[in-house]
Amino acid sequence: MAALRAAGAGAGKAMRPLSPSRSFATGGALRMASPAAAAAPFRPDEPAGPVVKTPIPGPVATRLIEELGESFETRSVNMMADYSKSVGNYIADPDGNLLLDVYAQIASIPVGYNNAALAEAARTPEMVDALINRPALGNFPSHTWASLLRTGILRVAPRGLDNVYTAMAGSDANEIAYKAAFMYRRQRERGGPEADFSAEELESAMRNEAPGSPPLSILSFRQGFHGRLFGTLSTTRSKPIHKLDIPAFDWPQATFPQTRYPLDEHAAANAAAEQASLDEVEHLIRTRASAPPAASGPTTTGTCRTRPTW
Ligand SMILES: Cc1ncc(COP(=O)(O)O)c(C=O)c1O
Repeated sequence: MAALRAAGAGAGKAMRPLSPSRSFATGGALRMASPAAAAAPFRPDEPAGPVVKTPIPGPVATRLIEELGESFETRSVNMMADYSKSVGNYIADPDGNLLLDVYAQIASIPVGYNNAALAEAARTPEMVDALINRPALGNFPSHTWASLLRTGILRVAPRGLDNVYTAMAGSDANEIAYKAAFMYRRQRERGGPEADFSAEELESAMRNEAPGSPPLSILSFRQGFHGRLFGTLSTTRSKPIHKLDIPAFDWPQATFPQTRYPLDEHAAANAAAEQASLDEVEHLIRTRASAPPAASGPTTTGTCRTRPTW
């Protein structure tokens, strides 16, 4: 995928066909590994290297993209894949091409395509149960849910974070964090978790008005991408195309420090950039009277660091 992007296949642009005879060396990646690791493929059935048989998209993919275009948006298609033939680090297409995939579905498939352990887990009665008996978890959690959380996600949770709220996707997870920050702030103002909502709050919330719907905000950084749902899109500042035509919250944005690398060679400039950014954030928090931030937005790395102290 990265190879395709490097070849000029940006979203919405016509794809420049790759030369059918071109071979894609993986030497750069291999040089970083030990010789023993370089000799051993991630998966025994991975090819020795990429296989490029046709221009990309080839004739089969071209026909399938046209067919898909009849009922699905295809202007953003980079490459049509054949996941049934993809293996480990290699992504296949319907024309028999096999490329080293360093894009990896926005880094969301780190264990590779057709991972045998996951395929085996997918066939277990527990997975069948989870897929076909999808519960409304808050109301009807399964008798196995506590044990699944404890032996699953909580085993890798950061220290001290021992409560779980599941979400479907990144945007969804970020919005849950935004809402938690708002609720925490209002709860403190109200006098703690035991303090009841006032009649005015209950009534005004149904009109989308304060105090039930308070004029609070999430502060995010320029250039960050945090998702495309309504709340997260208001904090996303990466490209206009994500935001155009969509109503947005009037929420503040600050400059993310543009640190230069190697860090130690630019220590003074980096420290100044970081301080300027912190000053800007503080200024926005102190002066933002109409919708003071209840939280800072997620960082550009996607980690949602809510700071519900403001
Ligand atoms: C940093 C970051 N935050 C949030 C999201 C949104 O995640 P999702 O597309 O799963 O809603 C993405 C998706 O690419 C992301 O890269």
